[in-house]
Amino acid sequence: MSTRPVVAELARRLARADRVLVLTGAGVSAESGVPTFRDALTGYWSRYRAEDLATETAFRREPVLVQRWYAERQRLLEKVRPNDGHRALTDLACLVPILTLVTQNVDGLHQRAGSEDVAELHGRLSVSRCIECGGVGESLEPTGDLPARCTDCGGLIRPGVVWFGEALPERALRDAEAAAERSDVALVVGTSGLVHPAAALPSMARAGGAYVAEINTARTPLSPDADVVLLGPSGTLLPALVEAVREVRRAG
Ligand code: OAD
Repeated sequence: MSTRPVVAELARRLARADRVLVLTGAGVSAESGVPTFRDALTGYWSRYRAEDLATETAFRREPVLVQRWYAERQRLLEKVRPNDGHRALTDLACLVPILTLVTQNVDGLHQRAGSEDVAELHGRLSVSRCIECGGVGESLEPTGDLPARCTDCGGLIRPGVVWFGEALPERALRDAEAAAERSDVALVVGTSGLVHPAAALPSMARAGGAYVAEINTARTPLSPDADVVLLGPSGTLLPALVEAVREVRRAG
């Protein structure tokens, strides 16, 4: 079945909306060459165990292993670029009165594509901090011995991401939930919808009356509750959707 009528209807709703929530996950960066977490074969969690790399217990047990893994991911980010999906979301923000972009991604690619005020629910990989004094900005890649330590107090340096079992950044979560409750349209892009509290945002938006649209290469546990599911890569579907919103606006 053609997705055209579905895209057209979603575009009409976006063109009329006052408030739009966009929730993104790893899938939106997949076409930039950043691995997702749960895709078979290529996802990080198909090759590694989250318990060994993404918890504070793992970090305290094996800081060198954890620092190396995040430093390697950081090096990859220095080589990749935002894709057409990231750019389309930046463009969409100029076409609706209020767009809140909420991401679970720690790669900073939305900002590099020009998006502002991104609510980063899971932190940012490029911002490391000391686990003792909280000093930020230290590199995970030390010039001297591993593990990397804080130059001020000697504490271990951890990546600025949220690990399993940790609280999300308060302000980002508050902004995301407020935006969900008030949104007219919620776009849920490239997330498996398995990690809470982010995964609760679409149903929160729906409960507040939003039209919920999912864009993903595969169906997810969020799909049954979405008003519409567009199956395909976000790097293609998002630019097409934004072009359709422009057409609606041009037609007046
Ligand atoms: P996942 O790896 O769980 O899910 C990625 C989703 O993107 C899947 O549903 C894919 O089908 C979809 N996908 C893949 N390529 C796509 C493409 N080109 N276009 C559109 N969709 C595509 O990633 P997240 O849902 O982001 O948390 O994972 C949530 C959290 O779990 C992450 O933030 C991370 C992870 O553990 C922490 O590190 C705290």
